[in-house]
Amino acid sequence: YKRITVKSLIEMKQHKEKISMLTAYDYTMAKIVDEAGVDVILVGDSASNVMAGHETTLPITLDQMIYHASSVVRAIDRALVVVDLPFGSYQSDPKEALRSAIRIMKESGGHAVKMEGGKEVKESIKRILNAGIPVMGHLGLTPQSIYKFGTYTVRAKEEQEAQQLKEDAIMLEKAGCFGIVLEKIPAKLAEEVAKSVSIPVIGIGAGAGVDGQVLVLHDMIGMTHEFNPRFLRRYMNLYEDMTKAIGQYVDDVKAIDFPNDNEQY
Ligand code: KIV
Ligand code: NA
Repeated sequence: YKRITVKSLIEMKQHKEKISMLTAYDYTMAKIVDEAGVDVILVGDSASNVMAGHETTLPITLDQMIYHASSVVRAIDRALVVVDLPFGSYQSDPKEALRSAIRIMKESGGHAVKMEGGKEVKESIKRILNAGIPVMGHLGLTPQSIYKFGTYTVRAKEEQEAQQLKEDAIMLEKAGCFGIVLEKIPAKLAEEVAKSVSIPVIGIGAGAGVDGQVLVLHDMIGMTHEFNPRFLRRYMNLYEDMTKAIGQYVDDVKAIDFPNDNEQY
């Protein structure tokens, strides 16, 4: 695929080609992620934690999401850019949800929006889709509802919550979503959901039986080091490498080793 579209993702599911997805929040990182061949870049509201240092995703604003998304869009040639609708920008009514989605599309140039929730957000999803804006769903652990859940532990372990999740996934497909993120639920349930819908299901902490995987970039490259859930595979330890490099720089400056004769005019 020269350029990934929502159609390509559905085709990938049909051909059983797994979809790769990572977050990015800025130009430089997004350029690396895009050039490395990732299919979907998520401008996640996890920027609230990773970029701004908040404890939850709740404080990030629509303006801040648009700033991150526009930086990402300027960097990409191939990936599909999906932008999270932040907490408070879509929950009060479908018209507000549509206004927020339109602002993201117009002001950032992103290609699609993602929103958390099942039947509660059905009418908003339909409104947004009617305006021609592709929507991705997000079920399971939905961090914008953290104060309702109380913890970030695995969701839908009980039969009732699992049943509701299955119904919500089918509803999201019927409403017209082009994909669904499933966060931190049992692998068996996630696989069942992926089989029950024809749109791609992208997992994070949802096992290998889904149609693709997503991780937070800063976690998978090991820039963060205090967050260690079981589902997280770290491909680098950038925290350690960067700390060493920066420590070396400090030492070199103190020792008047940097700059040397070749590093000046
Ligand atoms: O905001 C985010 O990074 C996300 C992913 C974890 C799916 O929503
Ligand atoms: Na998110």
